[in-house]
Amino acid sequence: MGQEKESETTRMSIAEKFLTMEYGPAPEDPKEALLWLDHHQRRFAHFIDGAWHPPLEGRFFDSTDPSTGDKIASVAQGSPADIDAAAKAARNALPTWQALTPHVRARYLYAIARAIQRHSRRLAVLETIDNGKPIRESRDIDIPLVARHFYYHAGWPQLLEAEFPGYTACGVVGQIIPWNFPLLMLAWKIAPALATGNTVVLKPAEFTPLTALAFAEICQEVALPAGVVNIVTGDGSTGEALVKHPGVDKVAFTGSTEVGRSIRAATAQSHKRLSLELGGKSPFVVFEDADLDSAVEGLVDGIWLNQGQVCCAGSRLLMQESIAEILIDKIRSRMSALRVGPPLDKNIDMGAIVAPVQLQRIRTLVDQGIAEGATCWQPPTQMPGRGLYFPPTLLSNVHPASTVAQQEIFGPVLAAMTFRTPAEAVELANNTVYGLAASVWSESINVALQVAAQIKAGVIWVNCTNQFDAACGFGGYRESGYGREGGREGLLEYLQPSWFNHAPCDSNQTDSVPAPSIGTATETIQPPAIDRTVKLYIAGKQARPDSGYSFEVRGPRGELLGEAPLGNRKDIRNAVEAARQASAWAKTTAHSRAQILYYMAENLSLRQSEVALRLAAAVGEARAFQEVSASIERIFSYAAWADKFDGAVHHPPARMIAIAMNEPLGTVGIICPNQSPLLGLLSLVLPVLAAGNAAVVIPSETYPLIVADLYQVFDTSDLPAGAVNLVTGHTAELLRTLAEHDGVDALWCFSNESNAAAAKSLSVGNLKQVFTNEGRVIDWFNPTQGEGRWFLQHATQVKNIWVPYGE
Ligand code: NAI
Repeated sequence: MGQEKESETTRMSIAEKFLTMEYGPAPEDPKEALLWLDHHQRRFAHFIDGAWHPPLEGRFFDSTDPSTGDKIASVAQGSPADIDAAAKAARNALPTWQALTPHVRARYLYAIARAIQRHSRRLAVLETIDNGKPIRESRDIDIPLVARHFYYHAGWPQLLEAEFPGYTACGVVGQIIPWNFPLLMLAWKIAPALATGNTVVLKPAEFTPLTALAFAEICQEVALPAGVVNIVTGDGSTGEALVKHPGVDKVAFTGSTEVGRSIRAATAQSHKRLSLELGGKSPFVVFEDADLDSAVEGLVDGIWLNQGQVCCAGSRLLMQESIAEILIDKIRSRMSALRVGPPLDKNIDMGAIVAPVQLQRIRTLVDQGIAEGATCWQPPTQMPGRGLYFPPTLLSNVHPASTVAQQEIFGPVLAAMTFRTPAEAVELANNTVYGLAASVWSESINVALQVAAQIKAGVIWVNCTNQFDAACGFGGYRESGYGREGGREGLLEYLQPSWFNHAPCDSNQTDSVPAPSIGTATETIQPPAIDRTVKLYIAGKQARPDSGYSFEVRGPRGELLGEAPLGNRKDIRNAVEAARQASAWAKTTAHSRAQILYYMAENLSLRQSEVALRLAAAVGEARAFQEVSASIERIFSYAAWADKFDGAVHHPPARMIAIAMNEPLGTVGIICPNQSPLLGLLSLVLPVLAAGNAAVVIPSETYPLIVADLYQVFDTSDLPAGAVNLVTGHTAELLRTLAEHDGVDALWCFSNESNAAAAKSLSVGNLKQVFTNEGRVIDWFNPTQGEGRWFLQHATQVKNIWVPYGE
């Protein structure tokens, strides 16, 4: 009895000890990283053409440790002249890099991966002192993912020809990265670019340039050919010079939506390809049947990883009302256990905020949240005496429309709201301009996947959060940007069809009708009577134009062929509304979409002769017949694709699968070419439809009369009302309205060069994806150019849904 009592006392005292146990300091030894800095005299030049080059204007700036404010090193401030030198080096290196066999390129990427592992501790420490993130994160998350990225991409050069036949590298790529995951963002950018045969000029963020410079040294160490990778350091002005440099073929950017928008505008007048990975306000949705303790642990990762300075941070907590109180209690108690302190301490959960300006931004936004009615709670966490720190913060009673529910705070601040039903959860989740990521927590796989399918975001984590892998694409919907990083879709950002660069430019901007690649005959037959009344086609109905005007359509010799309605802003607005209401089409199964497209081919084939005879007036009889029969073939082709353009299932190195789904973009505006008025239009509308989008189409301005034949085909083919809308009129004018309309999710402009530039510059408002021919003439009769995956890839965006398995 006495013994039992004694052991109980001992047990209790151990339990008590656990409760009161304090962590001792466990600092990581920074010696090796500091030696490396000293070896460079703590002063860094640019890395251009395989060597270190002092800045041409001689300016340097300081990189500081945010946990102390101490200067770490001086870093070169890049000028336009430095960017020019780097871009030229990258251009000169292209032939050498592309002449290497795929195996040799693979060996370089593999060597880089190995070197990253060899220097992993130094890189982790450098990252932590430069950025302020806990060493635990840089050591266990950032750097291993960097190595994985290079290993994964080392596998691609030898597979490219088989897996992406007919594709080629973009050329010289300008890459601009942020400060939150400096080396990881570098890896996400450089690995796929090199694997696909591009050369690179990369500008790291001004707050965190050091690991990029250490990476430059790794490039030297593995003897990467000079000029393949160039690193130019500097601030936003250096980035701007890179974006604007005429020697850059593609720009890849990660950072704020505001700067992303300015880059879209700055590149609009050029043929540069662009991918943008921007901000987010990602929902973290917890249903009442979720494992709440796991959800709380997920939340710690979701919002307090890297002090919340994460583009996909789960910064909006959406809780089912029935569990809100208990969940908040659990979160508060977990927050109280978070340790904030010097980031080199291995037991620290949260380190320092990257820079004073970011700390101030967080403070301002939190104050604004409180002013707008939120309740602010912070645990009694001990905060370090110096350095840039912000405590873990919970804002509850947040109104869904308030600033802190809508704007990216980019700090350790969670905004909490409640919902009642899954439908309400989805509505709240989608209630921002962003669409980067989401976490969904429910023990019901049906609920979780149903909600995951409805959230508009590029990545959805089911019962987990912040999972990343090189094989799985990452990137946003809506104002979170476009393009993907990682996986096959990430590679496509650095590839383009080989024929595209050689396609002739429509240099005189006439958007003229070229000869097709098949035999052509120019004789014309008597045009049919001109009194056909052509109308617009909106919401499945023929409609008169709002303007009440029409315009004359003339044939090649100036003869009057008919009149077409003169559509205006209002007609476009009606058409966009109809398209947005045609959601039934997106929900139609791929099989049914295919059936409807086949039916369309059948109906066009029934009218083949009459359509060809009318078209003959514009393009000549022989060509008209060829165009109609090629159109029927094209419809068959996309009917086939409709249920075959599948996604993929990835197997990241974790007990998870990532389901990569090709999802429609929504409403796509389409500007059709004058070449091949029927085939050109269908070649653009069909992939958009096959992928489940709705379309607002501006047919060729030179021969818009084709719409009359088209709406008869659509009307008789069971195509739901609003899935395709046709508005004729002056292309440039209607293009402007479409580009500026926030209800349009993507814009395809296959017209002349100036319309392509206008489409890009006018669509910055909601950052819609823009796909253009860059004013090049596409041979629509040639299936290599006129149909297939290239179009389907632009008609879809990939959503990766991560699902864990096992206990
Ligand atoms: P930022 O977007 O200004 O900087 C990102 C990168 O772009 C840096 O390398 C910067 O030098 C460069 N840059 C800046 N202006 C440029 C221009 N006009 N042309 C080309 N490059 C340019 O981001 P910043 O100012 O560091 O942070 C501001 C806010 O942006 C943060 O509070 C956060 O909300 C958001 N942000 C989002 C990131 C994301 O991954 N989604 C990353 C960094 C910031």
